[in-house]
Amino acid sequence: MKKIGIVTRDCAGINAAIRAVVRTAYFYDIEVVGILKGYEGLINNKIVPLSRHSVSGIINQGGTILKTTRSMKFFTEEGQKEAVKTMQNNGIEGLIVIGGNGSLRGAHELATKHNIPVVGVPATIDNDINGVESAIGADTAINVALDAVDKIRDTALSLERIFVVEVMGRDCGYIALTVALAGGCEEVLLPEKEFNIKKICEEITEGNIKGKISWIIIVAEGRARASDIAKEINEITGLETREVVLGHIQRGGRATAFDRILAARYGNFAVELLKEGETDKCVTLSNNKLITIPLEDAIKPKDIEVEDYYRLIKVLT
Ligand code: F6P
Repeated sequence: MKKIGIVTRDCAGINAAIRAVVRTAYFYDIEVVGILKGYEGLINNKIVPLSRHSVSGIINQGGTILKTTRSMKFFTEEGQKEAVKTMQNNGIEGLIVIGGNGSLRGAHELATKHNIPVVGVPATIDNDINGVESAIGADTAINVALDAVDKIRDTALSLERIFVVEVMGRDCGYIALTVALAGGCEEVLLPEKEFNIKKICEEITEGNIKGKISWIIIVAEGRARASDIAKEINEITGLETREVVLGHIQRGGRATAFDRILAARYGNFAVELLKEGETDKCVTLSNNKLITIPLEDAIKPKDIEVEDYYRLIKVLT
């Protein structure tokens, strides 16, 4: 393989992964180009050369230097044909796709429908890639959210208030669950678990009678809106309840050491796989060893186990 391209989505740690891909490729004398704005750039021929030097100083930058957008056209036959034509015209022989579910689904389609050598690198704060324990970006997002929750707790304690904190996680409660446990939060509402607002309010009221006056409830965006939950708690308990929506601050910022190391290992491995003729694979870890899983499996919905952590959150409250 003489020339490869990189397509990315965005989250902390992706630049570290781009750097790892580029530096590994040049180590093996493979040329690298970046595709600007994700699959849209592949359709519109937005290709930039990436030298060893062009990725210096990006290891600690959030986002993606390649920029990105969601491309609807890419998921049409016409869009994919144009993407393949761009690859052929530019002599791009293989692709490394760094991103979440949508990006990996696109990678699988390129590999299976168009016979393009493609390796996927899981990177999403939601950590919802099936068969992947750790996606790049999730650890950073959890630590950003945890830092915010720690600060909110200061005010919750000082003013004896209830806070409902909404974290990201479209279909997956991973961020909410881990932040709730790490932050010593009293309750967590997850897409994977039913909840009973009346029961939660009873617990708050009982606690309040016994002298427990501040609560932090984490809610995953895929389960409910923090504003609705705060309003209901206030109406039922009569206690002052505020909402905070953390939003996109969880996706950006400097990646943690964990995410940068993951990015270095995944990026390096992805290039080696392409070089060895592998395709339609997603990189991941098993017992801290690099392995691959079929992209077909990676894009299936992921079931996360929530009961153990949830039980612990309630026992430790
Ligand atoms: O999938 C990652 C994620 O950050 C989700 O947690 C969130 O729901 C979604 O992306 C937001 O996407 P956008 O920035 O395109 O609105």
